[in-house]
Amino acid sequence: MCGIVCYVGPKPCSNIILDSLKKLEYRGYDSAGIAVYHNGEINVTRTEGKLNRLGEALTQAPLDGSVGIGHTRWATHGKPSEANAHPHLVDHIAVVHNGILENHLELKRELAQEGAVFSSETDTEILAHLIARARAETGDLKSAVRQSLYQVQGSYAIAVLSTHEPERIVVAKNASPLVLGRGEGETFAASDIPAILEYTREMIFLDEGEIATIDAEGFAIEKLNGDPVRREPKTINWSPVQAEKGGFKHFMLKEIHEQPLAVENTVRSRISVETGDVASERIGLDDASALRVRRVVLIACGTSHHAALVGKYWIEALAQVPAEVELASEYRARGPLVDPNDLIVAVSQSGETLDTLEAVKVAKSGSARSLAIANVLDSAIPRTTDGALYTHAGPEIGVASTKCFTTQLAALFMLAVFLGRRRNTLSQDRAQKLLRGLMEIPNLMREVLTVEKRIAGIARQHAQFSDFLFLGRSYSFPIALEGALKLKEISYIHAEGYAAGEMKHGPIALIDKNLPVVVIMPHDGSFDRIVGNLQEVLARGGKAIVITTSGDKVLDGLDIERIEIPPCPVELTPLLTVLPLQLLSYYVADFKGTDVDQPRNLAKTVTVE
Ligand code: M6R
Repeated sequence: MCGIVCYVGPKPCSNIILDSLKKLEYRGYDSAGIAVYHNGEINVTRTEGKLNRLGEALTQAPLDGSVGIGHTRWATHGKPSEANAHPHLVDHIAVVHNGILENHLELKRELAQEGAVFSSETDTEILAHLIARARAETGDLKSAVRQSLYQVQGSYAIAVLSTHEPERIVVAKNASPLVLGRGEGETFAASDIPAILEYTREMIFLDEGEIATIDAEGFAIEKLNGDPVRREPKTINWSPVQAEKGGFKHFMLKEIHEQPLAVENTVRSRISVETGDVASERIGLDDASALRVRRVVLIACGTSHHAALVGKYWIEALAQVPAEVELASEYRARGPLVDPNDLIVAVSQSGETLDTLEAVKVAKSGSARSLAIANVLDSAIPRTTDGALYTHAGPEIGVASTKCFTTQLAALFMLAVFLGRRRNTLSQDRAQKLLRGLMEIPNLMREVLTVEKRIAGIARQHAQFSDFLFLGRSYSFPIALEGALKLKEISYIHAEGYAAGEMKHGPIALIDKNLPVVVIMPHDGSFDRIVGNLQEVLARGGKAIVITTSGDKVLDGLDIERIEIPPCPVELTPLLTVLPLQLLSYYVADFKGTDVDQPRNLAKTVTVE
């Protein structure tokens, strides 16, 4: 996730671009920059940090000109710094980019052999070099962009400004959003509607594999192969505040819906279904370390701790290595025993959670190999560990973690497959099936999310209860814990997650008509046993909300609310069963009118003890 803004028109544009970028700050805010054409030159200003730093720099040294491109960055390749901030300027060509170029390492090697010199660690600069090289050959900016895009694999929305054709900007899109807007004698492009809503309501959304040239008179859109595209503009009636959330009422709901794409971004370029393998250079762990591991210790807090619990099941099942999950706050305090053959895996969305960071430092004192699974690039935890596996979920604004949980799951699953393949505990055939299953998860997630309306109805009926119980077995036990945490943190309703097998050791005493019980029971090896638990709940008058796999007959005729997920490999069910639970919590909280995105007493990043 990053934000792009372009302007071509008669007005001085740097403040227009800056103001528009501010509306996109939710897409990234670790560095920013702007490039404006003036008197035969492209002048660039870039700063590390939030957009106000760019604003200060522009106040001190204003940029003149009325054609420009701007960017607010969420780092994916290369730490947040001024050098890595966009635009990247190569031979009078400035480029901004939102997305991930998968084959950037290969392209960089090739360009370096030809003498290219790089001034950043980004994948985007490689694209700028490709375009500059092609433009020198063809003499035409659009052809150069097109030719370069044929060489890259991955996701992109880009904008390209050149001193050679200063009256226009070339933009293109593949799997990252880009919208064009036409004003009075001026034209805009941006990553999202709110950026340009102040100037125009008539917008055109680019489709995958499209390229457009924009100038003050408007734009011309083509397919990458040169076929012209005709598309009518859409009139946008959103209020500016609504628009920042992409039309969703809260960031949490938006982030719930972003999960299919977020998981795609985590998995993208790291796995090969053909070979049934995960690339070691993209997972933060080398083959030798994978072979040496005798025990995996996963350390995390909150939702990340629940992802780690699922990770333990996967690592033990697929890689046959003992795995332990530690709450960071407990681990760091108790003086744990660390073996040099341990692999320490710290799981953290923010990469800044103090307890997790301190726990990693404790673990590292024992010379064990360490790996961070983090979302925020170059944050404190991945800077401390030996390797890092970034989830690439984009910024998560809602305090309740949703897309970062499922992307952590995807990362942990890839880690388990990687370890299993290196250690020969997972056959190629089985790995191929599992990775194929993982590739299909984003589409299955999209299917699950279509039950939203029904879940909203169920939430409304249950919002007045003061306690909930969540039950699951096997892979669904950590999901029960996560479902309970989501509900309590945003709706302030007391909720407990329990291993269903523990019911008879205590919690069964709680069950009566005033206790809704959410039972997570996809079709897996524990299904028959959890049906027994469900019967026990119903026999005591409990109200059950059941998350199960579609096509089931055993539950027919029972007095339950049933929410279905599509069939998928048993191991991957956590990536689907959690979605209805996130929606349930969201709608209960929304119905109660709590502050969903910033619940009381909570902070997004916990950097205190
Ligand atoms: O940034 P981290 O993943 O290290 O954060 C850990 C917890 O603070 C976090 O998961 C918290 O539990 C979430 N608010 C839960 O939704």
